[in-house]
Amino acid sequence: MLILDALSGALGANPIQRATLQTGLLTLVLLILSLACTPLRLLTGWTWPARIRKTLGLLAFGYAALHFLIYLFDHGFDLTLMTEDVLKRPFITAGFTALLLLVPLALTSTPGAVTRLGFQRWTRLHQLSYVAVSLGALHYYWGVKQDHTPPLIYAAVIATLFLIRLLKRRPARQAGSRPAKP
Ligand code: HEM
Repeated sequence: MLILDALSGALGANPIQRATLQTGLLTLVLLILSLACTPLRLLTGWTWPARIRKTLGLLAFGYAALHFLIYLFDHGFDLTLMTEDVLKRPFITAGFTALLLLVPLALTSTPGAVTRLGFQRWTRLHQLSYVAVSLGALHYYWGVKQDHTPPLIYAAVIATLFLIRLLKRRPARQAGSRPAKP
């Protein structure tokens, strides 16, 4: 999509900014979709959302990495400049932390990692995705200069997904059942 836009000149007068915005939004949408898989399964009993969750999570990580690479390209791959930006601008701090949190999740997305870590520890580690998606939404909110409605809508969707998990999970926990994957 981005490549087609770049080739056809559809990225506009500021292609770097356009590409940053597109990859940032795609990352957030994919993170939310992967987060929506468990609530959807809990609400409907469907099993297919659980099967696509890992792919969605890895795609989100891929787009986050691309988003970051475009940012680095825009800053001449100057790591000192990047570090200063991460330390000085809360908006960048939030995005960078979200990206860092996604790294261990991507690295432990294999079935072998679940066996190595043990199910409980793996589950706890993958709960970092909740923090990552929340930081992604905060990064979006802080980054927007004018209309804050779109980031607030994303935040409301994330909050609703968290609420569904909480409300649907509690009876299972009380019954002493094995915790489900995040
Ligand atoms: C999981 C990680 C991340 C997510 C979900 C994310 C998401 C987003 C979103 C949704 C936007 C706004 C899009 C719009 O306004 O239409 C954005 C913009 C931006 N992001 Fe990220 N981001 C992430 C990580 C990062 C990182 C690591 C950096 C750089 C260190 C970064 C730098 C930027 C910049 C500079 C913009 C603003 C572009 C502009 O307004 O010109 N992001 N990001």
